[in-house]
Amino acid sequence: MLGCVVLLLVTLCTQGGNGEDGQTPGHVSVVIVGGTGDLAKKYLWQGFFHLYVNHVSSGNTFSFYGGGLTPADKAKPVFFEILKAVNCPKDVSQERCALLKEQFLRLSEYQQLKTIEEYQDLSKHIEQQLQQEGLSEAGRLFYLSVPAFAYADIAEKINSSCRPTSGAWLRVVLEKPFGHDFRSAQVLASQLGSSLKDEEMYRIDHYLGKQVVAKILPFRIENKKFLDPIWNKHHIERVEIVLKETLDVKGRIPFYDQYGVIRDVMQNHLTEVMTLLTMRLPVNLSSSEEVLQNKLHIFSSILPVGKNQAVIGQYQEYTTQVQQELNKTKDHISITPTFAAVLAHIDEAQFEGVPILLISGKKLDERVGYARIVFKNDIFCLQNHNSIHCKPKQIVFYFGHGSLQYPAILVSKNLFKPVSKDSEWKEVTEHKDVSILGLPISDYYVQIPTEQREAYSELISYIFAGRKDSFISTENLLASWGMWTPLLSSIASSFPRIYPGGADNGDLLNVRLIGKEISYNSEVVIINNDQMGGTSANGFQVMQGKFRGADLVSAWAEELVERLAADLQGAAEKAVLESGVFHLALSGGSTPLALFHRLALHHFSFPWRDTHVWMADERCVPVTEFESNFQNLHDHLLQHVRIPYYNIHPMPVQLNERLCVEEDGGRLLYEKEIRKLVNGSSFHFVLLGVGYDGHTASLFPGSKTDKHGESLVALTESPVKPHQRMSLTFSAINRAHEVALLVMGKGKHELITQLSRVEDNPEKWPVTGVKPSDGRLVWYLDYDALLG
Ligand code: BG6
Repeated sequence: MLGCVVLLLVTLCTQGGNGEDGQTPGHVSVVIVGGTGDLAKKYLWQGFFHLYVNHVSSGNTFSFYGGGLTPADKAKPVFFEILKAVNCPKDVSQERCALLKEQFLRLSEYQQLKTIEEYQDLSKHIEQQLQQEGLSEAGRLFYLSVPAFAYADIAEKINSSCRPTSGAWLRVVLEKPFGHDFRSAQVLASQLGSSLKDEEMYRIDHYLGKQVVAKILPFRIENKKFLDPIWNKHHIERVEIVLKETLDVKGRIPFYDQYGVIRDVMQNHLTEVMTLLTMRLPVNLSSSEEVLQNKLHIFSSILPVGKNQAVIGQYQEYTTQVQQELNKTKDHISITPTFAAVLAHIDEAQFEGVPILLISGKKLDERVGYARIVFKNDIFCLQNHNSIHCKPKQIVFYFGHGSLQYPAILVSKNLFKPVSKDSEWKEVTEHKDVSILGLPISDYYVQIPTEQREAYSELISYIFAGRKDSFISTENLLASWGMWTPLLSSIASSFPRIYPGGADNGDLLNVRLIGKEISYNSEVVIINNDQMGGTSANGFQVMQGKFRGADLVSAWAEELVERLAADLQGAAEKAVLESGVFHLALSGGSTPLALFHRLALHHFSFPWRDTHVWMADERCVPVTEFESNFQNLHDHLLQHVRIPYYNIHPMPVQLNERLCVEEDGGRLLYEKEIRKLVNGSSFHFVLLGVGYDGHTASLFPGSKTDKHGESLVALTESPVKPHQRMSLTFSAINRAHEVALLVMGKGKHELITQLSRVEDNPEKWPVTGVKPSDGRLVWYLDYDALLG
């Protein structure tokens, strides 16, 4: 095999020119790990063949490897069958196509890639080839088309034994799923981060390779003068991002049942489209960094999405398919959603209040994907309703399929005539007679790509060009999981509405928006009788009892947070009635975020005007840093409620341009403020959490509890970064009228079990020092933390 590779490489080298895309030309080795799998067969080899065809005269030389766990003698015939099926781009003549295919086949080989030695062999093989041919190495491209659990191991093998020679690039392409929630994505990112640099990782979202999706930003820029005045809340009525599919997930259940529609297509494809539509336009579209920064900015403005912002469904046959494919008995039911409609809002002045609907489902009536921006129509038509001015005003980014069958950008003629400076797009005026989202096609200006290209081929060419803006960065990935994880946890035990599938779904999946919430339009809920089996209604009720001698409230996370928010409002109303003011001290950390969201989205009658918000603890970092507790509190609660700014009391951790220096007197300042404003320094309500080591507020194990004496505020040290903290002391906490200790999540179960057994020992378990002298302590533990 090597012999013919050599021969060919020499021939190709003589065709050389300068490298394209500003890269130094040289030899490129492409390795598809999982090279005989489904994705490789359907799209990847085709994409790499097109890459080869387009770059054969660029000065680069190539070799291609299909890697897999199967031994070479078994895999080779399958591998070459796949390669033989690739097609040339339309503009290549038959003769040239045959020649190029033959060359491509000769440059390709199968390698078993299982053990570290096999990766080492591959590397040796590449190096020998380079040496024998006197080629300089441009780079190595590994495409991991394998299940995500194998990523970390393969990345480590690549890192330890298959890196290219110095000066050449390494690009490792990864397919979703990248985790199944924020935590797991974080773990996966850090595992991969130990083997690969961020710039070496290319996380694919094939939607970013779809021509219409890739055109969203350029379209917005080219048509800026028309869009600037109308791309805002005053003109946009709503945004819909929809992916409807007719197929079911038969054959993919082992994967799908663990993920469901939200993780499968919403967290990635639809979210990416949403960011492209709403992000600030980059000044320089070719700056990947700027594009990614602007994306991150819009992520930080997406309002929390909770249970009331989503409806879910499941096609009727799904449970039977699960029983069959997962070898389960007839009483096994799955509540994985195959349909979801989610309502998002963006907290930016530009889009405030604009509903953004994300909808996707399997087994629906048609296969179509689009993003539609519906504009308000302020014209009142008294007659002649067929006049274009009386019709809907909308822009549709049509990804493909559906009644049109090809990708297109459609702008209704009552808006503006779009321009395109891009030779790869053209305007079309002749169409078949179809209607697109309520308007005959003749009522639109229509732009289509001059040549239709497959998403994977596009992305492969971007990888080769090192264009990172069309891939998912680690920060982007985590920001997206940050948006979806709270919703996913809140619906984890919800039953989806069952739908029959196809046209029979009728109106069953129609949704309605009421304020910031979404619900199914019809009340009819069809639930399989089996679906209720095994789940006692009690399982979902709020339970009361005792924990460590104090009151205990326990429920599933969502109900628990609802209950705590209601109790908090009760305490606030009582305090305001009795004393005209409510003093509330809040902790940092991620646990209270769900409570903040609940308060912001549901407690419109909360007496914020008479509430003073204090901090139970703070990290010694500038308030502009994401680690700042105050910034978290501000972003998730304060900015969403009408609280007078003079009622807000952040801890003064930064004084004289220094952080938490005793001589600057920050803690005394806070203490003085508390003594001045809070009657008897007794907060009405203190909300605390517990860390894995038993710390509460910023009172950590190992410090002498009596050392703070009567002080209300102390500077403390944390074992984890940022080390320096400011915290209310036990003396301040234990004067409160009411203290709530909120603990949630399976991760805290072990700690709760330990706490249920230990004696009071605040030096070892600081939380056991919380003992209000005249007040009440209530533990709010969710079932995951309490029962594991
Ligand atoms: C994939 C999902 O990422 O996207 C599939 O895993 C889904 O479930 C597919 O069918 C949709 O992609 P497209 O390009 O057909 O719209």
